[in-house]
Amino acid sequence: MKLLVTGAYGMLGQDICKTFENLGWIVTATDYDSLDITNEKMTNSVIEDVYPDVVVHCAAFTDVDKIEDAPETAININVYGTKNVAKATQAVNAAMVYISTDYVFDGEKTTPYLTTDKPNPINMYGKTKYHGELMTIQNCQKFYIARTSWLYGLHGKNFVETMLSLKDKELIQVVDDQIGCPTWTMELVMGISKLFNQPYGIYHICGSGSCSWYEFAKEIFKQSGLEVNLKPCTTEEFPRKATRPKYSVMENGGLTRPWQEALSDYLKLRGKA
Ligand SMILES: NC(=O)c1ccc[n+]([C@@H]2O[C@H](COP(=O)([O-])OP(=O)(O)OC[C@H]3O[C@@H](n4cnc5c(N)ncnc54)[C@H](OP(=O)(O)O)[C@@H]3O)[C@@H](O)[C@H]2O)c1
Repeated sequence: MKLLVTGAYGMLGQDICKTFENLGWIVTATDYDSLDITNEKMTNSVIEDVYPDVVVHCAAFTDVDKIEDAPETAININVYGTKNVAKATQAVNAAMVYISTDYVFDGEKTTPYLTTDKPNPINMYGKTKYHGELMTIQNCQKFYIARTSWLYGLHGKNFVETMLSLKDKELIQVVDDQIGCPTWTMELVMGISKLFNQPYGIYHICGSGSCSWYEFAKEIFKQSGLEVNLKPCTTEEFPRKATRPKYSVMENGGLTRPWQEALSDYLKLRGKA
């Protein structure tokens, strides 16, 4: 099977490429220089040349706060770039996996979001990613939308690494009133690899269970054997440019393990990396 990955040098893209190569797939890794998804001609020509069976579309403008000040760039990449990828994927009759986010939801629910719940994003990142979902559905018949959340992995800036870098601080304050599902990139990759014998459609692939960012931080330090002065705070005490949903827990279809188990494996692997 032939796989083409967009945004292949990002945090998730690197794990996708390595894992699928190990599974015996022929993988073409592309990023901005070799396949700028905002360039329709380039997108068509690269995807047609490779003629993949599956396109995993990881490329995106992912900085949630920066996007509030650069909405046009985000719309261009996350919405119109995705439309280009979807149309080019359709043209070679391949399947497309679009990586989406829990931030398509408004966070007003108190029970886990289902794949049938209607998105209502409350920040620009969520809005552009939701419109990317619509572009995928409208332009590619064989689509999988894989919504994930609170991603961390070996190859990018993420919450686990930020927390560990703060270990010597006198005081670490972390918000305790936003609840979600931490997800190791490798859990997501394995979840994606299981999609291909499932019907096309929308899937939630995130760590099982849920916690607040504060509880996540507490578990990171506990599992790392680090004694730190960690205190909970509120979103109001730690304002950010983009509004975050208060509760973005997603019901996943049993595709992943409890988030604490995945974190343990990540920390072990990281220790060896
Ligand atoms: N991180 C999370 O917590 C999270 C949660 C839910 C969903 N997701 C989704 O998961 C996917 C992967 O996220 P990630 O964390 O791996 O992000 P990432 O590390 O920022 O990777 C995204 C990649 O896309 C590339 N890119 C940006 N604009 C492009 C363009 N016009 N053409 C081609 N490539 C372009 C980036 O290149 P440059 O670095 O050169 O810009 C980067 O390599 C994204 O779709 C994201 O929305 C992430």
